[in-house]
Amino acid sequence: MLLQAQDLHSGYGEMEILHGVSIDLDQKEIVAVIGPNGAGKSTLIKTIFGLLRISGGQVLFDGADITGKPPRELVLQGLAYVPQTNNTFPSLTVLENLQMGAITRRTSPLSIPWTRTDHSGTQSQMNDAQIRERATHVVGMFPNLRPKLRERAGTLSGGEQQMVALAKSLMLDPKVLLIDEPSAGLAPKLVEALFSKILEINEAGTAVIMVEQNAKKALAIAHRGYVLETGRNRFAGTGQDLLHNADVARLYLGG
Ligand SMILES: Nc1ncnc2c1ncn2[C@@H]1O[C@H](COP(=O)(O)OP(=O)(O)OP(=O)(O)O)[C@@H](O)[C@H]1O
Ligand SMILES: [Mg+2]
Repeated sequence: MLLQAQDLHSGYGEMEILHGVSIDLDQKEIVAVIGPNGAGKSTLIKTIFGLLRISGGQVLFDGADITGKPPRELVLQGLAYVPQTNNTFPSLTVLENLQMGAITRRTSPLSIPWTRTDHSGTQSQMNDAQIRERATHVVGMFPNLRPKLRERAGTLSGGEQQMVALAKSLMLDPKVLLIDEPSAGLAPKLVEALFSKILEINEAGTAVIMVEQNAKKALAIAHRGYVLETGRNRFAGTGQDLLHNADVARLYLGG
């Protein structure tokens, strides 16, 4: 297993939201996490990414215990996170957003102090030429963004902004991408476009954990899925198993 979250307990302040959630991600997999509003899906992703204090359980990544590690270390080890909202810098151009995506791996006298720290077993740092090279590669994966590179991200459509958020996260060349509700608020055609982009990213070698309200479509592209409810695991199985499970369909897929 590439990533294993086992029996996670976490929440906000004194309030526990996850009451022992477990989820695995294998190399090359897309795993969908679905469940009703407030089930703890975003909380799970934030907990794995080190944004919330873990009060019980553990997270293993690539064989190492990463429980309680801060996001800046996880990013250097190959984890990337696309939040549910506020996932681009709206006043920066698309190209600047991509450059910002690589900032935690940038080597430079001006770089933020922690990027100069040695982290054993982490991904290498990138100089400005390498960042430009990576940006060219990432733009190649998102040809629709090419004519918009000099436009401010905040002026783009919702679908384009989600593409910018994805592209920005790929600047780190992550092993694992954690994506929270990429299709929220998008028209069905754009959802298709976004999901096929996620499939492409996955086929290029990045494992994906994707939280989605668009449960049917997410399960259709996922290798496996998990249903969460009130901070607990409720169902798990292959995407197809869950799609065809009568209880899952009735309770979570709108019949
Ligand atoms: N910053 C926060 N402070 C306190 N409670 C929070 C915070 N964020 C979420 N919660 C609470 O945690 C619970 C789970 O929220 P979470 O955002 O993980 O749900 P979700 O499954 O992602 O829902 P949605 O589908 O609406 O995005 C909810 O009861 C929510 O009110
Ligand atoms: Mg959420």
